[in-house]
Amino acid sequence: MRIVSSIAAMQRLARQWQRAGNRIGFVPTMGYLHAGHLSLVREARKRVGNAGKVVVSIYVNPTQFGPKEDFSKYPRDLKRDLKLCREAGADVVFKPSDKEMYPDSGTCVPPVRSRQKLTGETPVPLVFSTYVVEGKLSQSMEGASRPTHFRGVTTVVAKLFNIVLPDVAVFGAKDWQQAAIIKRMAADLNFPVKIIIAPTLREPDGLAMSSRNKYLDGDLRRQAVVLWHAIQKTREAVQKSSKPIPVAQLRRELKEVIEHEPDARLDYVEFFEPDTLVRVAKITRGTHLALAVFIGQTRLIDNGRL
Ligand code: PAJ
Repeated sequence: MRIVSSIAAMQRLARQWQRAGNRIGFVPTMGYLHAGHLSLVREARKRVGNAGKVVVSIYVNPTQFGPKEDFSKYPRDLKRDLKLCREAGADVVFKPSDKEMYPDSGTCVPPVRSRQKLTGETPVPLVFSTYVVEGKLSQSMEGASRPTHFRGVTTVVAKLFNIVLPDVAVFGAKDWQQAAIIKRMAADLNFPVKIIIAPTLREPDGLAMSSRNKYLDGDLRRQAVVLWHAIQKTREAVQKSSKPIPVAQLRRELKEVIEHEPDARLDYVEFFEPDTLVRVAKITRGTHLALAVFIGQTRLIDNGRL
């Protein structure tokens, strides 16, 4: 397995592979890998075959974190990540520095013009000033709670696509809205890449695997399974009902389940069509649900089909 840190070197390698007829499978991550990430690596391998090449990127992308979010304390363990990637059969780990991805721009959020307007600071020469913004699917849910989040995600994923030149890229259903937005972006901007969405891997008790689960210990970890219980309870109610159920009713019931736990607070729950993310008024089988919950200080998300 090769470790590549420079953009130019990664592009050179990808072009070589393309010329040799090797398909490229890509799994973008922010590291601190768990079995969910590794299932995406195996899916990428399945899609490109043994003659293909699988690239995993490990990059904690500053532009997708809000100013009060956990960028600086986001968990990192490169040594362990590299070992796991090797074992999962990756050919290359691409792990650029911030300077490589966003030259001379600090964390560059928000863009320079609006920042100057806000703070009146003197202009600084920024090298990086272009963003990719998806305008519709990114307005609700995570986009409403974290206003600059998806702009950071689409920008970094577009950059990574231009660096890794993948034929196939695999994303997790765990971040349902993110996957829908990436699919939209790839179609709208004609990236020649097939986007695959792979299922959410869960801990034995049902908690969706996440790098942020590291923040939970003791009783908070026990309480965190309430997201999964709430999804299951809602699903049972929908499956049992012979007629559509109004959103307000299920939202109320779900909030009660969540907030029964002493340290859990519901941030949002939405019910929507799985592909378009369009909100529904009444819930039937096949409606998708997504929720965000604070467990103490840690914000967790999950989703599922009802
Ligand atoms: P990260 O949170 O590291 O997740 C990387 C990929 O792993 C995403 O596609 C995510 O949906 C998937 N994933 C996370 N938990 C999973 C689970 N339990 N089962 C299956 N897949 C899971 O998502 C990001 O990083 C970033 O936003 C990124 C796309 C890398 C852009 O910076």
